[in-house]
Amino acid sequence: MQHRRSTHHGAGGSTRGPGRALRWSAALLVAPVLVACAPDAEDPQDDQTPPGQEQPETQFDTLREAAPEGFYVGSAAAGGGHHLEQDYDDPFTTDEAYREVLAEQFSSLSAENQMKWEFIHPEQGEYDFGPADAIVDFAEENGQVVRGHTLLWHSQNPEWLEEGDFTPEELREILREHIETVVGRYAGRIQQWDVANEIVDDDAEIRTEENIWIRELGIEIVSDAFRWAHEADPEAELFLNDYSVEGINAKSDVYYGLAQDMLDDGVPLHGFGVQGHLSTQYGYPGDLQQNLQRFADLGLKTAITEIDVRIVMPEDGQPDQGAFEQQAAYYRMSLEACLAVEGCDSFTLWGFVDRYSWVPVFFPEEGAATVMEDDYSPRPAFTALLQALEAAR
Ligand code: G3I
Repeated sequence: MQHRRSTHHGAGGSTRGPGRALRWSAALLVAPVLVACAPDAEDPQDDQTPPGQEQPETQFDTLREAAPEGFYVGSAAAGGGHHLEQDYDDPFTTDEAYREVLAEQFSSLSAENQMKWEFIHPEQGEYDFGPADAIVDFAEENGQVVRGHTLLWHSQNPEWLEEGDFTPEELREILREHIETVVGRYAGRIQQWDVANEIVDDDAEIRTEENIWIRELGIEIVSDAFRWAHEADPEAELFLNDYSVEGINAKSDVYYGLAQDMLDDGVPLHGFGVQGHLSTQYGYPGDLQQNLQRFADLGLKTAITEIDVRIVMPEDGQPDQGAFEQQAAYYRMSLEACLAVEGCDSFTLWGFVDRYSWVPVFFPEEGAATVMEDDYSPRPAFTALLQALEAAR
């Protein structure tokens, strides 16, 4: 398994090839931080910082550099899904400035959509590995680890699967073959797999109807999926993953019980992933750390796998400084909670610019959920993350 610090570049500059011509984007991103790194009353740049938006001092320019040893800060690699309906080309494969920041800032990548069934297994017996390969290759070129997402889910399944008239035995074989093929293809190159995603609904019930696998094969199929994934890649850490499980609540309680049962049965379950799709209008889940800790106490790893923090958008579309500060506090507290729990060493943003975020598509009233402006300049949340990482070194 790769180690973040063994491959990343030093504070002085990039050693990587791709996108070096676009270092302006990263320079733009870190400019206010650099100003703060070298405070100088005579520096004319100091005067360019608007009142109330001074960036506190930070030692490092990038999240990956600021992170303590062995701690991974990730982002989803934007592509597929909602992007297909937008008036831009596939972000991950075509936007060089975006790729530059993705490489500079992060030590872990997650496939936003590219490893989901409908993309990687679009027809029965046909796989399309191109987009997923591109992510894994990019990650290796840039000294990043990869989180695989996902193998067993109720959503984004191809029509041939959902509409197919398969017997339970056939379905079981289809899932086994898929996991063997996909996990096997990337064996040794994926740090963590979200094996089962969102198998519990908003009423804290197992998705026995929506999820084709559980509906047709029973909850035991989840354990089998973990066993098959482990056989295909014994090195990969295998996770349960869901949203609205940040705090200790009815839904996370279901996972806590399930995790105990799986471990008692000797299932190769290694981690619990908390997605972290937060909104400032619903308050901060103050017991996140305790929740992560109780899973850690079972002997599991934990991770924040998809964080973003939505803001209710004002009419003029421009949240005020107070809203961004509140958002920054949510990001910072989530990161600090993870950093405080042993075995929580992966913290992934579900994108870092609003332009490519899923949030405005799903929540028309909310937005500004990411840590950077669309020109990659930092929001307070970015600086808050940088500071929290530095403080944990
Ligand atoms: O499948 C339909 C298709 O039938 C239809 O013709 C087409 C036109 O509107 O839409 C297709 O659905 C899209 C889907 O991706 C399929 O790829 C949705 O509109 C689109 O909004 C959806 O977006 C993805 C979403 O997962 C799907 O649930 C997002 O890009 C992706 O960021 C998001 O990621 C999820 C994680 O995987 C799991 N946790 C929550 C997170 C945010 O929703």
